[in-house]
Amino acid sequence: MTGTAPVICIDGPSGAGKGTLSQHLATELGWHLLDSGALYRVVGFAGRLASVSLEDSDAVAGIARSLDVDFRPTSDGVSVWLAGEDVTVHLRTEEGGRDASTVAALPAVREALLLRQQELARPPGLIADGRDMGTVVFPQAPLKIFLTASAEARAERRFHQLQGMGESVSLARLLADIEQRDARDQSRIVSPLVPAEDAIVIDSTALSADEVLQAARDLAAARDL
Ligand code: DC
Repeated sequence: MTGTAPVICIDGPSGAGKGTLSQHLATELGWHLLDSGALYRVVGFAGRLASVSLEDSDAVAGIARSLDVDFRPTSDGVSVWLAGEDVTVHLRTEEGGRDASTVAALPAVREALLLRQQELARPPGLIADGRDMGTVVFPQAPLKIFLTASAEARAERRFHQLQGMGESVSLARLLADIEQRDARDQSRIVSPLVPAEDAIVIDSTALSADEVLQAARDLAAARDL
């Protein structure tokens, strides 16, 4: 079951700023970091490598169960290694996000990844970044933050991020993708993207990354974390 260490859950839709907030909090507190989206991304990537249909639940769940994956801390987050190879650059693409969303809708895949995630709650603590951290994976967590922002704000942030990486994309296409992925993540039967009942919702549409971090710091301090 869930480990003994405290967990801070940071859930919410793509592009709300969960990754940035999680990394900063993990660094400040000196805690471990779980980027659960990267787990779903690496399952999608491994499925493509193995040439299986990403809708074939049995095949993809088999891959998720036997996944030889390793997360290694880097100066700007974590790198993801699959079977001894650094595959990080292949995961953060738009296609990687779509594939992750497809495999994340399969109950057997979510089940296969559950224990793997729970085992990461080790001392001194874990920052868990995802969609169902507070509702399913760590229901006992002492602090659950649901970080959200308007779809337009999230598309714009992603647009600037991709531009900075030298990728040319259309803002309209990004917005359509985000809306489609939100709809799929919110309407799936298992672990839909909804705030836990005891989650604190932060809307980052009009907030800077620093303001979001300060709000999270205050919430953690109020719980002696
Ligand atoms: O956070 P991200 O963009 O890397 O997530 C990629 C996809 O994985 C996204 O469509 C939602 C899904 N996901 C999920 O279903 N549950 C999680 N805990 C994390 C991500």
